[in-house]
Amino acid sequence: MFNTDTITHFETLETPFYYYDMGVLRATLQTCHAASSKYGFHVHYAMKANFNPKVLDAVQAVGFGADCVSGNEVKAAVEHGFGNKNIVFAGVGKSNKEINYALDADIFCFNVESVQELEIINDLAKAKNKTAGVAIRINPNVDAHTHHFITTGLDENKFGINTWQLDEVVTTLRNCANLQFLGIHFHIGSQITDMEVYRSLCIRINEIQEWFEDHNFTVKVLNAGGGLGVDYYNPDGAIADFEGYFKVFKDFLNIKPGQEVHFELGRALVAQSSALISRVLYVKNGQRKNFLVLDAGMTELIRPMLYQAYHVIENLSQNSATHNSQLTTHNYDIVGPICESTDCFRKDVEFPQSYRGDLIAIRTAGAYGEVMASGYNLRDRVGSVYSE
Ligand code: LLP
Repeated sequence: MFNTDTITHFETLETPFYYYDMGVLRATLQTCHAASSKYGFHVHYAMKANFNPKVLDAVQAVGFGADCVSGNEVKAAVEHGFGNKNIVFAGVGKSNKEINYALDADIFCFNVESVQELEIINDLAKAKNKTAGVAIRINPNVDAHTHHFITTGLDENKFGINTWQLDEVVTTLRNCANLQFLGIHFHIGSQITDMEVYRSLCIRINEIQEWFEDHNFTVKVLNAGGGLGVDYYNPDGAIADFEGYFKVFKDFLNIKPGQEVHFELGRALVAQSSALISRVLYVKNGQRKNFLVLDAGMTELIRPMLYQAYHVIENLSQNSATHNSQLTTHNYDIVGPICESTDCFRKDVEFPQSYRGDLIAIRTAGAYGEVMASGYNLRDRVGSVYSE
């Protein structure tokens, strides 16, 4: 991701910023596109993972649709030319304003997360004399075996409709003349690396689609959501196993003739294409602890603090002639500048001896990085730099 020229260029720039390797991004998108097209599967990019305009341009160029979770995301998808009929809109708390915007845009489908939401979308569509396409987001009670903060498919989670409520769902659908039932939608969690989990999901999807068919509802779309994980320990390694992922669904999903199979991948498409580049501001040597204080913190990348997430951290200056320190390591806590004790990227790490001004790269930051940045402590907005 970084050659000597890139690092020399970084030396001239103000930090922190997100660096995007557009080549890595395009290669990842194309690999996913080839693997999904092989089976005729449709991918809607989960825009929440990264809505940087240049990332959206690259995603749109490869021909994916957009999976949105707010009115503003729907708007961004429309403006980026994703094609309104390639936009799906999920979210447990869609406001009337957001629903109305999506109705006006004639998007493909609302992924609906409660019975009450079905009624509200029907009322708002009726007022506009429109019909809204809907898919029911169902909670399949499949454990994603991932961090509990990013698990969404269990009965106890706020997302989706539980299977014991499905009778009420079909009654409501029958009473709602301004809704068109398109299919069923699932998303059980994120950063899932165990393909067995997806096999279990397929089995639940098969059971649930039979249930709908038995109740005389044609399931045109099976939407399996997203969640495919990446290797945070190996940022320069292989692209996520899209082949293996889609093959599980091809092998275990009971796909009926004419049915469409949809996915909503986010992280796996963008994570490895970006790194957060920061500088060492201070080196604090103490009796029990040494701290490397960076100029980036939880306001730029909150994943380590929120999900105990691991990101590879590299000192890009360590080979520079000025301090030739690659052989010496020190034990550090690598922390940010924010006035919170949790503002720590890594504790107790053996890391190359570092100096004020060294460039530090925090890898695999392309998903849920820049988009989760905040202005806490009245911080400047984090910048973006592109390889092209
Ligand atoms: N579809 C729905 C309905 C979702 O809620 C999500 C992610 C996705 C698709 C895309 O999932 P992916 O393929 O990216 O795993 N901020 C957390 C992750 C939150 C995921 C939220 N939903 C993190 O940094 O790990």
